[in-house]
Amino acid sequence: MITDSEIKEKWFKFFEKHGFKRIENASIIPENDPTVLFTTAGMHPLVPYLLGEKHPAGNRLCNVQRCIRTGDIDEVGDDAHLTCFEMLGNWFLGDCPKEEMIALSFEFLTSKEYLGIPKERLAASVFAGDETAPKDEVAYSAWKKCGVENVFYLSKEHNWWGLGAGTGPCGPDSEMFYDTGKPKCSPNCNPSCDCGKYLEIWNDVFMQYKVEKAGEKAVPLARPNIDTGLGLERAVCVLNGVKSVYDSGVFKDVVDFIGTKAAEKYDSSEKAKRSYRIITDHLRTSMFILGDLRGVVPSNVGQGYVLRRLIRRAVNCARNIGLDTKYFADIIDIFVDKHGVDYPDIAGNRQFVKDELSKEVEKFSKALEEGHKEFEKVIFGIERHKQFAAQSGEVVENVISGKACFRLYDTFGFPFELTKELAKERGYDVDEAGFHAAFEEHQEKSRTASAGTFKGGLADNSYESAKLHTATHLIMAGLRKMFGPQVMQKGSNITPERLRIDFNLDHKMTPEEIAEVEKFVNDAISRQLDVTCQEMSVKEAKASGAVGVFENKYGDVVKVYSVGDVSKEICGGPHAKNTRDLHHLKIVKEESSSAGIRRIKAVLD
Ligand code: ALA
Repeated sequence: MITDSEIKEKWFKFFEKHGFKRIENASIIPENDPTVLFTTAGMHPLVPYLLGEKHPAGNRLCNVQRCIRTGDIDEVGDDAHLTCFEMLGNWFLGDCPKEEMIALSFEFLTSKEYLGIPKERLAASVFAGDETAPKDEVAYSAWKKCGVENVFYLSKEHNWWGLGAGTGPCGPDSEMFYDTGKPKCSPNCNPSCDCGKYLEIWNDVFMQYKVEKAGEKAVPLARPNIDTGLGLERAVCVLNGVKSVYDSGVFKDVVDFIGTKAAEKYDSSEKAKRSYRIITDHLRTSMFILGDLRGVVPSNVGQGYVLRRLIRRAVNCARNIGLDTKYFADIIDIFVDKHGVDYPDIAGNRQFVKDELSKEVEKFSKALEEGHKEFEKVIFGIERHKQFAAQSGEVVENVISGKACFRLYDTFGFPFELTKELAKERGYDVDEAGFHAAFEEHQEKSRTASAGTFKGGLADNSYESAKLHTATHLIMAGLRKMFGPQVMQKGSNITPERLRIDFNLDHKMTPEEIAEVEKFVNDAISRQLDVTCQEMSVKEAKASGAVGVFENKYGDVVKVYSVGDVSKEICGGPHAKNTRDLHHLKIVKEESSSAGIRRIKAVLD
């Protein structure tokens, strides 16, 4: 068995040997990018650099990045899907030597010193070409040159990579697959057909293009890059020949632990197996979110809402298999013991993670109680309707409407499965189709609502965003001056139109305090201060008094942005050149973001 730690170690040894600088992984909550809630790939925190900013660690980088992709949440429970995974990545910034990258990929995959996969077991796909970009013959012949026989040309649907929001750097890719040796499912069997013969291990993206606005055509990047990503958990699974990601490493440890405490056994039914896996996956992801330095806690919006859903779904699954939720704390311990080694912030937040988790479990239990009461009201309503209807000879069936089921689910967090179960006990049916229709209608509405925010943040690299970014530094400086240095930024979200910044503060700001911060910023603006950037080691940065939440984010060398003598922060940029460009700041809202975290929204006018 090769373990995840061994693969990581080999990854860094290999890439460092080839001149790639190891950079720290970034927060799981993206900074200054409103297009997504979570970091979804290793390239995500690097977007400004992929668009041309200079990276302090140079132009050959590698790392391991924790990523969250909740788009596949409903698939979790099968053999391969996870909502959180670790991605091994390496990058060429401002340079796109395809042959070199493919030769490196080949060496890492096949060399005995590294993964040692026989080359006959490797397959690769490359971009077949369309109106956006030509057929990738360079990548094709590079694989052939390495001696890989099975190279397939596939369409954009399979061999093009960009961020989910449809903006930012993108380009044709070349994916690598492990051939399991299964017979071909058809004469045309290829890595896109999902028959299980080919399992994806790694993706080399040739970022030669960028999309400015969602829906617009991709335009060539003046300085193309290479971005690669290898999903660690799946690689462990493939390389060890196990069927599911839950059959090895820390996942197996947790599944085994649950087995010792739950009433139902893992293999007793398909539903039980899924429940074990969902608990395992969702608690691990919850730990990564809660343990992150950005301090997200369960709520009804944004990242907090995803977290709430994950925890509540885990509680439901625990119910399915007869697992007491008090064991969630032990499961968190297993995960923190494992991941705290690579992610010290998680190790340091062990107790916080457990406390917040148990608070949410408690809240959910209360909500369930309320839901039960509401359920009884629904039944009572139907019974009364029946009585009245009987007088006029009308027949009312014992069916709970889809709308009522959805209300129980949406307003009270009452799981649909539970409504069905209780209904059955009482001799009622539920309108399942009606529930799903109401559910979809709601999803459609929220999709439309969030589509409005897909405007591109600093990921767009516009000067409008850069000015607002500088304004966030000034606001932080003002807040720290007023309330003390314990006040730190806890997240931000910038579009070209406005900024949003979260920070820890123990009270709601008074109108006077808001006016004072605004004045502080506007004074700095009118002083026409230059914004300057210096590169230095983390140590020097700290010694110089620079503020930084993620001191280790970019390895040894960091950028420190100063706004005159007003602010000094470790930051990736980009920023305005001089505060005069900001013109005037107006705080439009101050509100609570979550417990102990306040949020300011502001515009430049
Ligand atoms: N960013 C690329 C991916 O996520 C490597 O597949």
